[in-house]
Amino acid sequence: MDLSIVVNGMTFPNPFLLGSGPPGTNARVIAKSYDAGWGGAVAKTISLESAKVVNVVPRYGKLRSKTSGEVIGFENIELISDRPIDLWLEEFRQIKKEYPKHILIASIMEEYEKGRWQDLTRMVQDTGVDAFELNFSCPHGMTERKMGSEMGEHPDLCEQVTSWVTEVSNIPVWAKMTPNITNIKEPSLAAVRGGAAGISAINTILSVIGVDLNTLRPMPTVEGHTVPGGYSSQAVRPIALRMVSQLALGLPQDVSISGIGGIENSHDAIEFLLLGSSTVQICTGVMLHGVKMIDELKEGLEKFMTDKGFNSVQEVVGKSLGYFSTHMDLVQKMKAAKRSKAGEASRDNEWGQKDITEKTAELTSN
Ligand SMILES: Cc1cc2nc3c(=O)[nH]c(=O)nc-3n(C[C@H](O)[C@H](O)[C@H](O)COP(=O)(O)O)c2cc1C
Repeated sequence: MDLSIVVNGMTFPNPFLLGSGPPGTNARVIAKSYDAGWGGAVAKTISLESAKVVNVVPRYGKLRSKTSGEVIGFENIELISDRPIDLWLEEFRQIKKEYPKHILIASIMEEYEKGRWQDLTRMVQDTGVDAFELNFSCPHGMTERKMGSEMGEHPDLCEQVTSWVTEVSNIPVWAKMTPNITNIKEPSLAAVRGGAAGISAINTILSVIGVDLNTLRPMPTVEGHTVPGGYSSQAVRPIALRMVSQLALGLPQDVSISGIGGIENSHDAIEFLLLGSSTVQICTGVMLHGVKMIDELKEGLEKFMTDKGFNSVQEVVGKSLGYFSTHMDLVQKMKAAKRSKAGEASRDNEWGQKDITEKTAELTSN
């Protein structure tokens, strides 16, 4: 089945992209993912001066299910790429030469200075990459240099920086937004005013993964100390789905959305498509399960489309958005369906007749 989709003029062989991070850390791993069947990749974020980027070890922490041990949440305090820009430029050229039909998106980040952003844009664009993703969203480390989410939290900076980039770029520009903000629509709309053709959401959520009760040290612990980091993996998916749906309902129709956050299989990815994403990105899922997870992603999407009678991925995009409403409207709909009795039978006064866990189960939909 044809799983391709055209987004901002780019033809993606399928809607599944490596998210910026370890899965796109150099040309070798990106090539391996294309060979495995991924439709595209957003490379690890790069900047002009890699010498300023110094990572720590350890830099990851996991939240596991208490019963199965499965990883449900993941924190990282990793910075952007520490590889020199010249090496990246050479590798972007090499990847585009060897894989001309796969989509390669360069993720870029710089300090708040027009010349720096425009130099980086021109250099990277010359290599033949298909699009840019502006990293306005890394929530730790880079923020100390006023980069990443320090920009994404301020709509005026998002608009300004995006316009610097779009002034010199002739390929599509996506802005990647931070969830560490009250209303994700505001900086996203600002980036669109600056010329962004698409919005990627979400980056990681600020978090502290836990505290070691033996040493009393919060984790991940580096020489006895830590900083809050970025939370990803399954646990963030409901938050990402909410933000993606808000964006899909609030952005101009022609702005594309790349959905990110906690995707581990085709079921999760289809949810993002149904809520308005034209492509989806996966970072932690690939780190935990490997690039071969693409097989299930493609098979699962094909099966879903066949079962539900969809002829193209584009037809799936945004299909569930019409089912969002207001609370008052839900009450009206229940009344109209003569289910008001069911609502009244679950009034707060009734609590206490049954065990609270039974009541919770009774009011849960899945
Ligand atoms: C170890 C790690 C490194 C990351 N590095 C970057 C990065 O360099 N640039 C970026 O835009 N996002 C980066 N991210 C964020 C991911 O691309 C993604 O937005 C986020 O983790 C949520 O998606 P996921 O649950 O599929 O990982 C990183 C995430 C992780 C876990």
